[in-house]
Amino acid sequence: MSPMIVQPDDSVIKDAAAKLRAGGVVAMPTETVYGLGADTLNAAALRRVYEMKGRPANNPLIAHVHDVAAAQRVVRQWDERCGALAEAFWPGPLTLVLPKADDVPPEATGGLDTIAVRCPDHHIALRLLAAFGSAVSAPSANRSGHVSPTTAQHVADDFAGCEALLILDGGPCVLGIESTVLDVTSRVPRILRPGSVTVEQLRAILGDVDMPIIDSQGASPGTAAAHYAPNTPTILVPTCDLQRVLAKSTVATVVLCFSEISDVPPQYVIEMSGNAAGYASRLYGALREADECGADRIIIEKPPMDDPDWRAILDRLHRAAT
Ligand code: TXA
Ligand code: MG
Repeated sequence: MSPMIVQPDDSVIKDAAAKLRAGGVVAMPTETVYGLGADTLNAAALRRVYEMKGRPANNPLIAHVHDVAAAQRVVRQWDERCGALAEAFWPGPLTLVLPKADDVPPEATGGLDTIAVRCPDHHIALRLLAAFGSAVSAPSANRSGHVSPTTAQHVADDFAGCEALLILDGGPCVLGIESTVLDVTSRVPRILRPGSVTVEQLRAILGDVDMPIIDSQGASPGTAAAHYAPNTPTILVPTCDLQRVLAKSTVATVVLCFSEISDVPPQYVIEMSGNAAGYASRLYGALREADECGADRIIIEKPPMDDPDWRAILDRLHRAAT
Protein backbone atom coordinates (compact mmCIF):
# COMPACT_ATOMS: atom_id res chain seq x y z
CA MET A 1 0.00 0.00 0.00
CA SER A 2 1.19 3.52 -0.80
CA PRO A 3 0.90 6.71 1.21
CA MET A 4 -2.00 9.00 0.38
CA ILE A 5 -1.29 12.03 -1.84
CA VAL A 6 -4.04 14.63 -1.48
CA GLN A 7 -4.80 17.98 -3.08
CA PRO A 8 -5.35 20.13 0.00
CA ASP A 9 -8.57 22.10 0.28
CA ASP A 10 -9.75 23.66 3.57
CA SER A 11 -11.16 20.43 4.95
CA VAL A 12 -7.96 18.49 4.15
CA ILE A 13 -5.88 21.17 5.90
CA LYS A 14 -8.18 20.89 8.92
CA ASP A 15 -7.78 17.10 8.98
CA ALA A 16 -4.01 17.39 8.58
CA ALA A 17 -3.82 19.81 11.53
CA ALA A 18 -5.93 17.39 13.60
CA LYS A 19 -3.57 14.60 12.64
CA LEU A 20 -0.58 16.65 13.85
CA ARG A 21 -2.45 17.42 17.10
CA ALA A 22 -3.03 13.68 17.60
CA GLY A 23 0.72 13.03 17.27
CA GLY A 24 0.64 12.01 13.61
CA VAL A 25 3.04 12.72 10.76
CA VAL A 26 2.10 14.83 7.72
CA ALA A 27 4.26 15.50 4.65
CA MET A 28 3.97 19.07 3.47
CA PRO A 29 5.31 21.08 0.54
CA THR A 30 7.58 24.07 1.08
CA GLU A 31 9.30 26.35 -1.42
CA THR A 32 12.58 24.43 -0.92
CA VAL A 33 11.79 20.71 -0.58
CA TYR A 34 8.97 18.64 0.95
CA GLY A 35 9.12 18.16 4.73
CA LEU A 36 8.00 15.31 6.99
CA GLY A 37 6.18 17.18 9.73
CA ALA A 38 5.25 16.49 13.34
CA ASP A 39 4.39 18.58 16.42
CA THR A 40 7.61 20.21 17.74
CA LEU A 41 6.38 19.81 21.33
CA ASN A 42 5.41 16.11 21.02
CA ALA A 43 8.42 13.85 21.69
CA ALA A 44 6.67 10.63 20.62
CA ALA A 45 5.56 12.14 17.31
CA LEU A 46 9.12 13.33 16.63
CA ARG A 47 10.55 9.88 17.43
CA ARG A 48 8.24 8.51 14.74
CA VAL A 49 9.72 10.97 12.21
CA TYR A 50 13.27 9.79 13.03
CA GLU A 51 12.16 6.19 12.77
CA MET A 52 10.41 6.67 9.42
CA LYS A 53 13.43 8.42 7.91
CA GLY A 54 16.03 6.14 9.47
CA ARG A 55 17.62 9.38 10.69
CA PRO A 56 20.41 9.33 13.28
CA ALA A 57 19.00 10.57 16.61
CA ASN A 58 21.67 13.29 16.88
CA ASN A 59 20.69 15.01 13.62
CA PRO A 60 18.48 17.95 14.71
CA LEU A 61 15.24 19.03 13.00
CA ILE A 62 14.00 22.38 11.71
CA ALA A 63 10.87 23.76 13.41
CA HIS A 64 8.58 25.39 10.86
CA VAL A 65 6.59 28.37 12.10
CA HIS A 66 3.78 30.51 10.76
CA ASP A 67 5.29 33.79 11.95
CA VAL A 68 7.77 35.44 14.30
CA ALA A 69 5.48 35.01 17.34
CA ALA A 70 5.40 31.24 16.77
CA ALA A 71 9.20 31.22 16.45
CA GLN A 72 9.59 33.15 19.70
CA ARG A 73 7.49 30.47 21.41
CA VAL A 74 10.14 27.76 20.81
CA VAL A 75 13.34 29.80 21.33
CA ARG A 76 14.85 31.32 24.46
CA GLN A 77 16.37 34.39 22.81
CA TRP A 78 15.26 36.57 19.94
CA ASP A 79 17.45 39.61 19.40
CA GLU A 80 17.37 42.54 16.96
CA ARG A 81 19.42 40.60 14.42
CA CYS A 82 16.73 37.89 14.30
CA GLY A 83 14.04 40.52 13.88
CA ALA A 84 15.92 42.10 10.97
CA LEU A 85 16.53 38.71 9.31
CA ALA A 86 12.91 37.63 9.66
CA GLU A 87 11.80 40.99 8.28
CA ALA A 88 14.11 40.59 5.27
CA PHE A 89 13.76 36.87 4.49
CA TRP A 90 10.61 35.35 6.03
CA PRO A 91 8.63 33.70 4.78
CA GLY A 92 11.54 32.19 2.90
CA PRO A 93 14.54 29.83 2.73
CA LEU A 94 16.44 31.05 5.79
CA THR A 95 16.68 28.89 8.93
CA LEU A 96 17.90 30.45 12.20
CA VAL A 97 19.60 28.41 14.93
CA LEU A 98 18.91 29.82 18.41
CA PRO A 99 18.90 28.64 22.04
CA LYS A 100 15.79 26.48 22.54
CA ALA A 101 12.93 27.15 24.94
CA ASP A 102 12.94 24.92 28.04
CA ASP A 103 9.79 22.96 27.14
CA VAL A 104 11.01 21.97 23.66
CA PRO A 105 11.79 18.23 23.95
CA PRO A 106 15.32 17.01 23.11
CA GLU A 107 13.84 15.00 20.20
CA ALA A 108 13.16 18.32 18.39
CA THR A 109 16.82 19.29 18.50
CA GLY A 110 18.79 16.04 18.30
CA GLY A 111 19.58 16.54 21.98
CA LEU A 112 21.14 20.00 21.42
CA ASP A 113 20.38 23.07 23.50
CA THR A 114 19.66 25.02 20.30
CA ILE A 115 16.74 24.84 17.87
CA ALA A 116 16.50 25.66 14.17
CA VAL A 117 13.44 27.69 13.07
CA ARG A 118 12.13 28.88 9.74
CA CYS A 119 8.96 30.25 8.19
CA PRO A 120 8.40 28.54 4.82
CA ASP A 121 7.21 30.49 1.79
CA HIS A 122 4.51 28.13 0.60
CA HIS A 123 0.78 28.78 0.89
CA ILE A 124 -0.05 25.19 1.84
CA ALA A 125 2.61 24.97 4.55
CA LEU A 126 1.48 28.34 5.90
CA ARG A 127 -2.18 27.29 5.92
CA LEU A 128 -1.28 24.08 7.76
CA LEU A 129 0.86 25.96 10.31
CA ALA A 130 -1.95 28.47 10.85
CA ALA A 131 -4.53 25.71 11.35
CA PHE A 132 -2.22 23.78 13.69
CA GLY A 133 -1.36 26.93 15.63
CA SER A 134 2.13 25.91 16.75
CA ALA A 135 5.53 24.84 15.41
CA VAL A 136 5.92 21.79 13.15
CA SER A 137 9.32 20.10 13.03
CA ALA A 138 10.01 18.81 9.54
CA PRO A 139 13.17 17.32 8.11
CA SER A 140 13.26 16.83 4.34
CA ALA A 141 10.78 14.06 3.51
CA ASN A 142 13.29 11.52 2.16
CA ARG A 143 14.85 8.42 3.68
CA SER A 144 17.98 9.49 5.54
CA GLY A 145 20.93 10.13 3.20
CA HIS A 146 18.83 9.92 0.02
CA VAL A 147 18.04 12.71 -2.42
CA SER A 148 15.58 15.28 -1.03
CA PRO A 149 12.03 15.26 -2.46
CA THR A 150 10.74 18.11 -4.63
CA THR A 151 7.38 16.57 -5.59
CA ALA A 152 4.67 14.73 -3.65
CA GLN A 153 5.44 11.63 -5.74
CA HIS A 154 9.11 11.69 -4.60
CA VAL A 155 7.84 11.54 -1.00
CA ALA A 156 5.50 8.65 -1.84
CA ASP A 157 8.39 6.82 -3.55
CA ASP A 158 10.63 7.09 -0.47
CA PHE A 159 7.85 6.06 1.91
CA ALA A 160 6.12 3.38 -0.15
CA GLY A 161 4.65 1.02 2.43
CA CYS A 162 3.82 3.81 4.91
CA GLU A 163 0.14 3.77 4.06
CA ALA A 164 -0.82 5.95 7.03
CA LEU A 165 1.32 8.82 5.73
CA LEU A 166 -0.68 11.80 4.49
CA ILE A 167 1.14 13.79 1.78
CA LEU A 168 -0.18 17.27 0.98
CA ASP A 169 0.44 17.91 -2.72
CA GLY A 170 1.70 21.42 -3.43
CA GLY A 171 3.17 20.70 -6.86
CA PRO A 172 6.90 20.88 -7.62
CA CYS A 173 8.99 22.94 -5.17
CA VAL A 174 9.96 26.26 -6.72
CA LEU A 175 13.49 26.57 -5.28
CA GLY A 176 14.39 22.88 -5.15
CA ILE A 177 17.25 22.94 -2.62
CA GLU A 178 17.12 23.22 1.16
CA SER A 179 17.19 26.45 3.14
CA THR A 180 20.29 28.34 4.23
CA VAL A 181 20.98 27.42 7.88
CA LEU A 182 22.44 30.30 9.92
CA ASP A 183 23.71 29.91 13.48
CA VAL A 184 22.90 33.13 15.33
CA THR A 185 23.93 31.94 18.79
CA SER A 186 27.36 33.57 18.54
CA ARG A 187 28.46 37.18 18.10
CA VAL A 188 29.42 36.56 14.47
CA PRO A 189 26.65 34.52 12.82
CA ARG A 190 27.82 31.48 10.89
CA ILE A 191 26.39 29.67 7.87
CA LEU A 192 26.03 25.96 8.67
CA ARG A 193 24.44 25.00 5.35
CA PRO A 194 24.45 27.13 2.17
CA GLY A 195 21.11 27.72 0.45
CA SER A 196 19.33 30.24 -1.76
CA VAL A 197 19.86 33.07 0.72
CA THR A 198 23.55 33.90 0.11
CA VAL A 199 26.25 35.04 2.50
CA GLU A 200 26.34 38.34 0.58
CA GLN A 201 22.64 38.92 1.28
CA LEU A 202 23.14 38.08 4.97
CA ARG A 203 26.17 40.38 5.26
CA ALA A 204 24.11 43.22 3.82
CA ILE A 205 21.86 42.92 6.90
CA LEU A 206 24.28 41.72 9.59
CA GLY A 207 27.74 42.91 8.61
CA ASP A 208 30.06 40.07 9.59
CA VAL A 209 28.95 36.50 8.70
CA ASP A 210 31.18 33.41 8.71
CA MET A 211 30.99 31.03 5.78
CA PRO A 212 32.64 27.59 5.91
CA ILE A 213 34.55 26.20 2.94
CA ILE A 214 32.08 24.33 0.81
CA ASP A 215 34.16 21.20 0.17
CA SER A 216 34.43 20.45 3.89
CA GLN A 217 32.45 17.91 5.92
CA GLY A 218 29.66 20.41 6.45
CA ALA A 219 29.22 22.56 9.47
CA SER A 220 25.81 21.56 10.79
CA PRO A 221 25.24 18.25 12.55
CA GLY A 222 24.03 15.79 9.95
CA THR A 223 25.56 17.57 6.96
CA ALA A 224 27.72 14.51 6.44
CA ALA A 225 30.06 14.36 3.49
CA ALA A 226 27.88 11.80 1.71
CA HIS A 227 24.33 13.10 1.60
CA TYR A 228 21.70 13.91 -1.00
CA ALA A 229 23.12 10.87 -2.74
CA PRO A 230 21.67 8.89 -5.63
CA ASN A 231 22.13 5.11 -5.39
CA THR A 232 24.21 5.07 -8.59
CA PRO A 233 27.93 5.97 -8.26
CA THR A 234 28.21 9.64 -9.17
CA ILE A 235 31.16 11.78 -10.29
CA LEU A 236 31.61 15.48 -11.04
CA VAL A 237 33.47 16.36 -14.24
CA PRO A 238 34.57 19.87 -15.27
CA THR A 239 33.15 21.15 -18.57
CA CYS A 240 36.58 21.11 -20.22
CA ASP A 241 36.98 17.35 -19.59
CA LEU A 242 33.41 16.25 -20.22
CA GLN A 243 33.59 15.32 -23.89
CA ARG A 244 36.87 13.43 -23.42
CA VAL A 245 35.62 11.45 -20.39
CA LEU A 246 32.44 10.47 -22.24
CA ALA A 247 34.35 9.42 -25.36
CA LYS A 248 36.44 7.02 -23.27
CA SER A 249 33.48 5.69 -21.27
CA THR A 250 32.62 2.04 -21.74
CA VAL A 251 29.85 1.74 -19.14
CA ALA A 252 26.22 2.83 -19.28
CA THR A 253 26.26 6.44 -18.15
CA VAL A 254 23.68 9.09 -17.31
CA VAL A 255 24.98 12.61 -17.93
CA LEU A 256 23.57 15.72 -16.25
CA CYS A 257 24.90 18.64 -18.26
CA PHE A 258 24.16 22.22 -19.20
CA SER A 259 26.65 22.36 -22.11
CA GLU A 260 26.04 20.85 -25.52
CA ILE A 261 27.71 17.47 -25.90
CA SER A 262 27.93 15.42 -29.04
CA ASP A 263 26.45 11.97 -28.88
CA VAL A 264 28.79 9.35 -27.43
CA PRO A 265 26.95 6.13 -26.59
CA PRO A 266 26.22 4.39 -24.29
CA GLN A 267 24.72 7.30 -22.43
CA TYR A 268 21.50 8.99 -21.44
CA VAL A 269 21.53 12.77 -21.26
CA ILE A 270 19.51 14.87 -18.84
CA GLU A 271 19.67 18.47 -19.98
CA MET A 272 20.10 20.91 -17.13
CA SER A 273 19.61 24.67 -17.10
CA GLY A 274 22.67 26.92 -17.34
CA ASN A 275 20.92 29.27 -14.95
CA ALA A 276 21.42 28.55 -11.23
CA ALA A 277 17.77 28.96 -10.19
CA GLY A 278 16.56 26.74 -13.03
CA TYR A 279 19.25 24.18 -12.26
CA ALA A 280 18.40 24.07 -8.53
CA SER A 281 14.69 23.55 -9.06
CA ARG A 282 15.40 20.57 -11.35
CA LEU A 283 18.40 19.04 -9.55
CA TYR A 284 16.85 16.51 -7.15
CA GLY A 285 14.26 15.37 -9.69
CA ALA A 286 17.09 14.85 -12.20
CA LEU A 287 19.13 12.81 -9.69
CA ARG A 288 16.12 10.60 -8.97
CA GLU A 289 15.46 10.19 -12.71
CA ALA A 290 19.13 9.35 -13.26
CA ASP A 291 18.89 6.60 -10.65
CA GLU A 292 15.84 5.12 -12.32
CA CYS A 293 17.79 4.61 -15.57
CA GLY A 294 19.65 1.73 -13.94
CA ALA A 295 22.95 2.97 -15.42
CA ASP A 296 26.38 2.08 -14.03
CA ARG A 297 27.25 5.64 -13.17
CA ILE A 298 26.11 9.24 -13.21
CA ILE A 299 28.36 11.98 -14.57
CA ILE A 300 27.50 15.53 -13.55
CA GLU A 301 29.01 18.47 -15.39
CA LYS A 302 30.53 20.67 -12.71
CA PRO A 303 28.91 24.13 -12.52
CA PRO A 304 30.91 27.38 -12.15
CA MET A 305 32.97 27.47 -8.93
CA ASP A 306 33.18 31.19 -8.20
CA ASP A 307 29.63 32.39 -8.71
CA PRO A 308 27.67 32.94 -5.43
CA ASP A 309 24.45 31.84 -7.15
CA TRP A 310 25.89 28.35 -7.66
CA ARG A 311 27.39 27.90 -4.18
CA ALA A 312 24.53 25.93 -2.58
CA ILE A 313 24.19 23.77 -5.69
CA LEU A 314 27.91 22.91 -5.63
CA ASP A 315 27.61 22.01 -1.95
CA ARG A 316 24.85 19.49 -2.76
CA LEU A 317 26.69 18.13 -5.82
CA HIS A 318 29.88 17.53 -3.82
CA ARG A 319 27.87 15.51 -1.31
CA ALA A 320 25.92 13.64 -4.01
CA ALA A 321 29.24 12.62 -5.55
CA THR A 322 30.96 11.52 -2.32
O1 TXA B 1 14.60 23.79 3.30
C1 TXA B 1 14.69 23.13 4.33
O2 TXA B 1 15.39 23.49 5.29
C2 TXA B 1 13.92 21.80 4.42
C3 TXA B 1 12.42 22.14 4.39
C4 TXA B 1 11.56 20.94 4.63
O3 TXA B 1 12.16 23.16 5.31
N1 TXA B 1 14.26 21.06 5.60
C5 TXA B 1 15.44 20.42 5.73
O4 TXA B 1 15.54 19.70 6.90
O5 TXA B 1 16.32 20.46 4.91
P1 TXA B 1 16.69 18.64 7.16
O6 TXA B 1 16.31 17.97 8.42
O7 TXA B 1 16.85 17.77 5.99
O8 TXA B 1 17.97 19.49 7.41
C6 TXA B 1 18.07 20.26 8.59
C7 TXA B 1 19.44 20.84 8.68
C8 TXA B 1 20.48 19.79 9.03
O9 TXA B 1 21.66 20.05 8.32
C9 TXA B 1 20.68 20.01 10.53
O10 TXA B 1 21.94 19.62 10.97
C10 TXA B 1 20.48 21.52 10.65
O11 TXA B 1 19.45 21.82 9.74
N2 TXA B 1 20.03 21.87 12.01
C11 TXA B 1 18.82 21.68 12.55
N3 TXA B 1 18.81 22.06 13.84
C12 TXA B 1 20.04 22.50 14.13
C13 TXA B 1 20.66 22.99 15.31
N4 TXA B 1 20.02 23.12 16.45
N5 TXA B 1 21.98 23.33 15.24
C14 TXA B 1 22.65 23.20 14.08
N6 TXA B 1 22.12 22.75 12.92
C15 TXA B 1 20.84 22.38 12.95
MG1 MG C 1 17.56 16.50 4.61
